[in-house]
Amino acid sequence: MTERLELYKCNICGNLVEVILPGVGELVCCGEPMEYLEAKKSDSEYGEKHVPVFSATDNQGEEVRVGSTLHPMTEEHYIQFVETIAKDRRRSELEYFYPSDEPIMMIKDKLGLEKARAFCNLHGLWESEPEG
Ligand SMILES: [Fe+2]
Repeated sequence: MTERLELYKCNICGNLVEVILPGVGELVCCGEPMEYLEAKKSDSEYGEKHVPVFSATDNQGEEVRVGSTLHPMTEEHYIQFVETIAKDRRRSELEYFYPSDEPIMMIKDKLGLEKARAFCNLHGLWESEPEG
């Protein structure tokens, strides 16, 4: 049984999927069950470069930055996407990133968010909740 907004990855071909609407079946790709991606949090090793940080911008906006020390963005190692999920789970927003981008996503309403998550091509899925 899957749940809304869960992420699953195929460790053979790299397909990564999000559950939009859940069902009872097991997700399979390349003939194997897909791996459920559990997000790591700030207490994990390498957290400082991966855990999303909610912060204010200079012009009174808000943003999610990946890492208290911004994550590297090279061809070999980079943040592939950032996603925010609303508290009521009615809305999510996903932004793709590419090498040489800055892994920073502008957001509108920090307090309306349950969490942000970021995916690194080498170190997997990370998440955090806005404070306050
Ligand atoms: Fe990384």
